[in-house]
Amino acid sequence: MSDTNKKTVLSCIQPTGDMHLGNYFGAVKNWVDLQSDYDCVYGVVDYHAMTMPYDVKKLRSNTWELITNLVAVGVKPENLFVQSLVPEHAELCWIFNCFCGIGELGRMTQFKDKSKKNEEEQSNKFISAGLLDYPVLQTADILIYKADYVPVGKDQEQHLELSRNIAGRFNHQVGQEYFVLPEGLYTETPKIMSTADPMRKMSKSAGEKHYISVFSDSKRIEKQIKSAVTDTGEVSEKMSAGVQNLFMILKASGDTISHDQLMDTYRDGNLRYGDLKVAVAESVVKMTDDFKVRRAEISADKKQLKSQIKASSADIRRKAQETIREVKDLVGLLNVRF
Ligand code: TRP
Repeated sequence: MSDTNKKTVLSCIQPTGDMHLGNYFGAVKNWVDLQSDYDCVYGVVDYHAMTMPYDVKKLRSNTWELITNLVAVGVKPENLFVQSLVPEHAELCWIFNCFCGIGELGRMTQFKDKSKKNEEEQSNKFISAGLLDYPVLQTADILIYKADYVPVGKDQEQHLELSRNIAGRFNHQVGQEYFVLPEGLYTETPKIMSTADPMRKMSKSAGEKHYISVFSDSKRIEKQIKSAVTDTGEVSEKMSAGVQNLFMILKASGDTISHDQLMDTYRDGNLRYGDLKVAVAESVVKMTDDFKVRRAEISADKKQLKSQIKASSADIRRKAQETIREVKDLVGLLNVRF
């Protein structure tokens, strides 16, 4: 984060181990690109990761793993912070809880989906109050930096709307346009499907064959692409979902020349799926090889990365503390500086 007249973009991601092509092309690549035009603040939100049943032993290592991966693919460390290193997020969340109706939270689709999923899982039916409150914490993440834009996918639109409602209600109650109402930044990002089942989104929860990890070895990436499902059997005029997905990955990974050539071949009715797969595998491997080199460099000096993230979190925290001081003033809390 720096002091310029650029608009502020804020986004956050939950620490869940591996990064796959769906995460990268669908969100993270956009983060990297936005850095040239905006003041970007990107959070690894470990408080959010506690809202669903989770493995206490893995949370911290997942957080570092994600940070390493984000930096390896091009997110600037100075733009990154870890949520729990900026505890003011939780403080502002509490204040916002008092500006948010419980009915609003109960209506959130993500809450309904996730709590239903938990209930259906025999082993763990526990639904935490944190899961219900999640969108209020998300609101705090956004408003604490007075972000102008939040790059969001469709699934987060409702949460963003809630943050605008909370900001509006807060401003109304304190009688001043204090918070900026954040807007969504809807960049077209490719939605990558599972190569093993192109009817479903690429995701970790569906199992190993349903996602291609950005950092797994080239042989495995090649193998997964070469075994991608292309046709489901029925003859149709339309391009099958599997073939569409491969074309999309080819373009997203940067080989637009092969993409256009192979698309022409397809239109002429002469495309051999084997050729498409070879091109996709080559392009993805080339892209991910660069990421892996970067990742190895970063991992060789973990101390350096840790001190960078500590420093950037402290820097970003100053802005959060300023907001909290002003908010406490506005809502009538004591504001004594120790
Ligand atoms: N809820 C987001 C997700 O699951 C993560 C998130 C937390 C977030 N806080 C945010 C996204 C603030 C944007 C802005 O993907």
